[in-house]
Amino acid sequence: MPLQLAKTAAEIRQAVREARARGLTIGFVPTMGGLHEGHLALVRRAKEKGYVVMSIFVNPTQFSPGEDYEKYPRDLERDIALAEREGVDLVFAPDANEMYPPGDSTFVEVTGSLTKGLCAPFRPGHFRGVTTVVAKLFNIVQPDKAYFGEKDFQQLQVIRRMARDLAMPVEIVGVPTVREPDGLAMSSRNAYLSLEEREASRALSQALREAQGLVKKGQTDASAILQVVRDRVSAQPLVRLQYVEVCNPETLEPVSSIEGRAVLAMAAIVGKTRLIDNIMLEAS
Ligand code: PAJ
Repeated sequence: MPLQLAKTAAEIRQAVREARARGLTIGFVPTMGGLHEGHLALVRRAKEKGYVVMSIFVNPTQFSPGEDYEKYPRDLERDIALAEREGVDLVFAPDANEMYPPGDSTFVEVTGSLTKGLCAPFRPGHFRGVTTVVAKLFNIVQPDKAYFGEKDFQQLQVIRRMARDLAMPVEIVGVPTVREPDGLAMSSRNAYLSLEEREASRALSQALREAQGLVKKGQTDASAILQVVRDRVSAQPLVRLQYVEVCNPETLEPVSSIEGRAVLAMAAIVGKTRLIDNIMLEAS
């Protein structure tokens, strides 16, 4: 079956109804486009299960003032070609009016520790924008399963919490981060990097891996781990660390020592580009 493109919620409902009537499981991959191998890994996971719906929508409500909403990469034709090659069945590419009808005045917000730390203070309103658009997309697509990358670990946990708290009838599936050969986590924003910035950005994943190695060797003190990351990153003059934290993976609250599993998460500014990355630490 060739890929079907829909711009309206009504078309999506119709196509999904038909797929469900054929007995197919509906897998959903929400994106903002600028597709890369990270997005395609989500599609491949979804494809194992049946009918795959992908949304491509640069969501205005999750960008803070002064962020890159206007210059965010938009190339629908290229994205559709990539999606089709990967076997996506249906692409939902709404315009802003379809997602936010005039007079729209409802938000969905996860409160508490999940939206307090890490990226939240640096991106006011961001997670509220994400949960609002994802809740709407879930209502339109009504998927059985929805796939999100661990690269955006805080986003994944916030969406899991929203789905649980609001009893949404969807299973949230987390997919491991896809990386460039030198370790840099794939991101639509990597396209903004100059050659020198791209080179310097390797320091992020290298620092995380080094920290993970120390934990494997028995280091459990979070401040020692954080110092290693700070030292590695500050050796790169083009990279400015925004935050680095060791957190409980469920609550995202900072921990001072690693018992069991903890997530090491960071954000850095390289030139004008904000990059995030994280890695799971497991005390031996
Ligand atoms: P976007 O940044 O386009 O990412 C879409 C999905 O791809 C997210 O679940 C993200 O975690 C995943 N992803 C991105 N890079 C990845 C990588 N290197 N490896 C694995 N997965 C990766 O995240 C968003 O869009 C938006 O916030 C959205 C959820 C669509 C709501 O607007």
